[in-house]
Amino acid sequence: MEYQGLSFVEAIQDLAKMAGLTVPQEARDVGQPSAKVVLGLQDALQQAANFYKAELKKTPRAIDYLKARGLSGEVAAKFQIGYAPAGWQNLKHVFPHYENEVLGIAGLVVENEQGRRYDRFRDRIMFPIHDQKGQVIGFGGRVINPIDTPKYYNSPETPVFQKGHELYGLFLARRAIRDAGRALVVEGYMDVVALAQYGIEYAVAALGTATTPYHITKLMRQADEIVFCFDGDNAGLTAAWRAAMNALPALTDGLKLSFLFLPKEHDPDSYVREFGKVRFELEIQSAMPLSQYILKHLSEDNSLQSQEDRVRFLNEAEPILQQINAPRSAMFLRKKVAELAQISIEEMHGLLKLPNLNKVPVKAKPKLTRTTLSMQRRFCLMLLMQPSLVDKEDLGWAVGHTDEDLLLQQTIETCLKHPNSKPVVIMRELEQKVDAKVFLELGRELNVLDETIDFSLEISGARSQLRDSYAQKIEAALLLSVSEKPLSALTENERLLLKSLGSKARQKRV
Ligand code: GTP
Ligand code: MN
Repeated sequence: MEYQGLSFVEAIQDLAKMAGLTVPQEARDVGQPSAKVVLGLQDALQQAANFYKAELKKTPRAIDYLKARGLSGEVAAKFQIGYAPAGWQNLKHVFPHYENEVLGIAGLVVENEQGRRYDRFRDRIMFPIHDQKGQVIGFGGRVINPIDTPKYYNSPETPVFQKGHELYGLFLARRAIRDAGRALVVEGYMDVVALAQYGIEYAVAALGTATTPYHITKLMRQADEIVFCFDGDNAGLTAAWRAAMNALPALTDGLKLSFLFLPKEHDPDSYVREFGKVRFELEIQSAMPLSQYILKHLSEDNSLQSQEDRVRFLNEAEPILQQINAPRSAMFLRKKVAELAQISIEEMHGLLKLPNLNKVPVKAKPKLTRTTLSMQRRFCLMLLMQPSLVDKEDLGWAVGHTDEDLLLQQTIETCLKHPNSKPVVIMRELEQKVDAKVFLELGRELNVLDETIDFSLEISGARSQLRDSYAQKIEAALLLSVSEKPLSALTENERLLLKSLGSKARQKRV
């Protein structure tokens, strides 16, 4: 999930596919396409993409258009940009069974009221849209002639393409997003492509829809920072505010969300062309944080002078505050709102119906090792209390490089050194060796640890669980390194490894 930025279900399906297993399905929702239909759609869309790409090469008028917009051949190839020729039934060259219903479902062919079928995309520059695995799931098509309408025409929603879930450019941007620790969300296909050409490769675009909480969540799996950069015109401002409002339910305290407002006459495409990458990235760094944007927007046409002004301000702030569950972000914003309304935070809590931040489940980024972490912690704490219960062999299974792994290793080592010491002695030594924040937490947790438990029993139970989960983590890492390659490129050993892991996993479940 973390590495490829997939959801849990996607990750499971991927792993199963690599190991040659089928994921058992719950009774399928009615209307959910069968695997066979999906394969047919994917195949049709890929063939169409190949066709459009080949057509572009043959069409000087389309090439000239792209050149005139400053696109390099390299970036056009990278984004697999194509051209759908003018004419009604060009796809007949690709699909001899033009009447096949798959073409209709894929949104490649439309049917008029007389039942005549024709190509959906005609005389348009074609931007294929990929899912996170690189499969073509749809297209955006742009007119060449500015008087034609609509300017952009997109694939309809299909079983493999839900606009509210997909982001244009995400597949190609994946690595750059990871490297930069940041995703840039823009409005247009051309913005994504132009930014990539100028070296800003971590941009993605929503597909002519507002940014949804799904989009945010998807990006959050890959980066801790999301910057929105919409066009400088009024439509762009409206889109930015909608994106901000849609992001609220997905916020976490670890996420940095900000907004970059370009000058009125610019979109990201024109801006990067005029000012270049360095200047653009400077702008990104000084983008406006979400909290500031919210406050600015709420007080934009409100001078907060009269009592009535402040009542209106509170009324408008309430639904916004209600949707923020990230405790720290929510608290700071609440304080600011109260301050601006010139009331105390207690008065505000009395007035507005706001979620109790202590009760809200902390929805941090999904972490694979969640349960292991708390078990690791517990094991450390118990060892601190009873260092003589440490085992030399504990150093054998406690591997890894995260803060928690290191803490575990240091605790074991220190306990081995001072098996008969009091917790304070071990803590003093640990303080020199582990991360300061982790150490602070440890001290706090030690104070509230239940001392009446059977340490010997608890420690040996925790030990066997931890030993298992570390072993599993090593296997998973191996599997992941192998999974980077297509099945056909695996060595015999890697294939055996996959097979043995697959069968072991199965045994465990039985
Ligand atoms: P150009 O630079 O003019 O090629 O376009 P752009 O990428 O700057 O797009 P623009 O800012 O005009 O629009 C942003 C996005 O909104 C586009 O990338 C499309 O996804 C979508 N969009 C724009 N115009 C239309 C339209 O006429 N119909 C539909 N369905 N979507 C559109
Ligand atoms: Mn543009």
